[in-house]
Amino acid sequence: MDKNSYIGVFDSGVGGLTVAKGIMDRLPNENIIYFGDTAHVPYGTRSKRQITRYVLDDVAFLRQYDIKAVVIACNTADSTAREKVEETYPDLPVFGVVHPASEQAARATKNNKIGVIATKATANSQAYDKAIAEINPEATVIDVGCPLLVPLVENGRFKKGDLIPETVVREYLDPLVAQGIDTLILGCTHYPLLTAIIAEAYPQLTIISSSDAAARALREGLQKTDMLSDTPGGDHKYFVSDDAALVEGIAHYFMGKELDGKVEQISVG
Ligand code: DGL
Repeated sequence: MDKNSYIGVFDSGVGGLTVAKGIMDRLPNENIIYFGDTAHVPYGTRSKRQITRYVLDDVAFLRQYDIKAVVIACNTADSTAREKVEETYPDLPVFGVVHPASEQAARATKNNKIGVIATKATANSQAYDKAIAEINPEATVIDVGCPLLVPLVENGRFKKGDLIPETVVREYLDPLVAQGIDTLILGCTHYPLLTAIIAEAYPQLTIISSSDAAARALREGLQKTDMLSDTPGGDHKYFVSDDAALVEGIAHYFMGKELDGKVEQISVG
């Protein structure tokens, strides 16, 4: 595989753009193909079987581009179907979000009590519990499925001072904080946008963004295997499986700016 090949990054929809942005900021020379399976979003409310089918279709699409690595930029996909991806493509380096965030949280906690907020599928998979237990068996992990947060963020309701997301965040997090967590993993692509609200409500928490952790781990992984691009300036392509305009309209929430390329609609599966 060529070090200047594309990195394939995929998510159930637009949320994975928080991961893509982290990668683009840290690795500006990488060529990236982003795929959002917007025809099938959300994954977080679906069964393992269905999520796995979608994920294998997502990777099959990206593989057409001779990618040098794939990033599962979706907590639900990574926690539910990662093993299947590794099994299906043993020659393809697979990066994700769950392990990097687990490592950061296991290092950050002082009292060994870590909270994870995520979709229902991610919380049910207990992927974070397992990953953290391997790194720090002393740690207690409390997962909470937060189904109301993704729709709020996608509707632009994540800004400080907005009572609706502030109330919903408290509804989910008050019980976790009451149990004494000192570290909180944002175990869903959309939740980094809620950081300001969470940090204001619970200043005592160390907040770990799985999106940010994933981008750092990718850089380390590519560095270790001498697979970082050595050509200046990266090319970015964006594909989705439903109407491109729907994504172009809200991508700036997740990227903090407009997309630097056109979004193309394709069909998968
Ligand atoms: N991208 C998903 C995740 O990080 C959230 C949206 C969905 O449920 O598909 O879990």
